[in-house]
Amino acid sequence: MLIMIGSGWRIYNESPLFPFIIPFEITLGHEFPGALLWHFAAMWLLVVNGIVYLALGILTGRFRRKYFPIRPREAVADFGAALRGHLSHDDLAVYNAVQKLFYVGAIVAGIVVILSGFSIWKPVQFQELTALFGGYDAARYVHFFAMAAIVIFLIVHIALAALVPKTLRAMLRGR
Ligand code: HEM
Repeated sequence: MLIMIGSGWRIYNESPLFPFIIPFEITLGHEFPGALLWHFAAMWLLVVNGIVYLALGILTGRFRRKYFPIRPREAVADFGAALRGHLSHDDLAVYNAVQKLFYVGAIVAGIVVILSGFSIWKPVQFQELTALFGGYDAARYVHFFAMAAIVIFLIVHIALAALVPKTLRAMLRGR
């Protein structure tokens, strides 16, 4: 993801969609062609990882167990508790409703960024997919906004995990 974001930002700078560019110091790929090479190399890593992750999550029932159901009332209550710093972190294996919502949202954003990526990478070969996003130009915007959602998720996620340090350890070790 970090390679995709860094190289994507360098690609964006070549033909910005908005009246700003990303500081070159935090982009990846040096020159534009280099950034494209990074983007198209790392995408395989991401897609293969993503397929394994989704397959395991679905087949082992982990997604169903951990992420569902998500009840709107609980999400609102947990969000309020999170803002007041009152959320319980006793059992890290049980996600609160806000976590569930964010994690499912991040997975959806990941799927959208990959599908919109394919539709701007090969708009002729994947023309049905590109049409689904409203055409090439619209798919570029979708690609960008999905990236932005992932970046916001990463920032909030890492900041919150840093507040409860044992979660960082659990994230890296998987238990
Ligand atoms: C299979 C996965 C992906 C493919 C095939 C793909 C493909 C592409 C292509 C072809 C472009 C160039 C668009 C243009 O010419 O304007 C691009 C740009 C970009 N990509 Fe990806 N991408 C993928 C995943 C990602 C991911 C995971 C991220 C970040 C989370 C990302 C972030 C960006 C950004 C920020 C741009 C620049 C947006 C623009 O100006 O159009 N991409 N991507």
